[in-house]
Amino acid sequence: MAKIAVLGYGTVGSGVAEVLDVNGACVEDSAGEKIEIKYILDLRDFPGDKHESQVVHDFDVILNDPEIEVVCETMGGIEPAFTFEKKALESGKSVCTSNKELVAAHGPELVELAKKNNVSYLFEASVGGGIPVLRSMNDSIRHERLDSITGILNGTTNYILTKMDQEGADFDAVLKVAQDKGYAERNPEADIEGHDACRKTAILASIMSGQFVKHDDIYTEGITKITGEDFEYARELNMAIKLLGSCKREDGKFFAMVAPFLIPFDNSLSMVNGVFNAIDVHGNMLGDVMYYGKGAGKKATASAVVADVIDIVRHKGKHIDWNLRNVPAEVAPINDDIRNFFVRCDASAETGAKELFGDVKQVKSDKVSGEFAFITPEMTEKDFKEKYEKLRGVRSYLRLL
Ligand code: HSE
Repeated sequence: MAKIAVLGYGTVGSGVAEVLDVNGACVEDSAGEKIEIKYILDLRDFPGDKHESQVVHDFDVILNDPEIEVVCETMGGIEPAFTFEKKALESGKSVCTSNKELVAAHGPELVELAKKNNVSYLFEASVGGGIPVLRSMNDSIRHERLDSITGILNGTTNYILTKMDQEGADFDAVLKVAQDKGYAERNPEADIEGHDACRKTAILASIMSGQFVKHDDIYTEGITKITGEDFEYARELNMAIKLLGSCKREDGKFFAMVAPFLIPFDNSLSMVNGVFNAIDVHGNMLGDVMYYGKGAGKKATASAVVADVIDIVRHKGKHIDWNLRNVPAEVAPINDDIRNFFVRCDASAETGAKELFGDVKQVKSDKVSGEFAFITPEMTEKDFKEKYEKLRGVRSYLRLL
């Protein structure tokens, strides 16, 4: 019997208890022994809850109990989660977490600390909710030289964009539904401004590069400027609009960014709708492999946390290593990145747009008037930015994948 503690009895923490309750026999079969929650740390009490008697309010109770082998940190945020995780690892307990904010900020350091103490630090649930992408990268495709990762990494924004596209829904109303469904962050700005996708991109980029990619080094745009008219044009182009997190090696440089993109319908990422996430990983020998599944929500995320607990129990007495060193990765500025851009400007700006951008391809929509919309030739981000700033009457732009 392996005894574990869960820190935080919110959406994910209570989900971990539910997964262990409902799938106890399968979990035991997978881990080779029964897994039992001994403690749940929370500031609140939960009278009437099935796990009421396991609730404690003092982390030291967990820390000082030698029976606890695994601590699941599902509190979120940097502190006190960071202190609790460090103390647990230092006292010889393995840690698994869904806390992407903390993993993005301190993951490599915590992996090193786990190694030093011959325990494990796993964080499958921090990227892609229930999708087993990190374990696969660390195990099944670890021998590949990864060239690029492109993913839809935030369920809330994908849910919002899908509803705006398919139902013409209002941004704020859809965000409220995503919050009610338990997809959104406490502060939804983290979702809609792209910060959550940026942290997940930083985690993926760190594992891809084997070095610490800091989220502050990743250029990030959210989805707040996307309008119904953008979807009208996207339909004309046979494209979808998705918030993508991506990183790639190119010409000896490592690029990473988060931004909304127009994606052609023949690219599988364009078909990923609702709360689902998908991550396309390109290996030098393997080619593309796509991971797809529910990217947010209680049960899917909790299932990934439980998968980590099982992995740890199966590797008792061993450190599960990552190809990840705590040294800063060099992320290139996006200036030299090359692509096409979709631009909307006032109809009166057509001549100016053609003069500035050269051979543009006009995009027309019956549903939008008074505008000149076009796709630029391939150009660097730097070149685009300079020209876009010079164009009078500009309204908005999107990148093309
Ligand atoms: N707010 C996050 C999302 C939760 O919508 O993807 C899962 O990390």
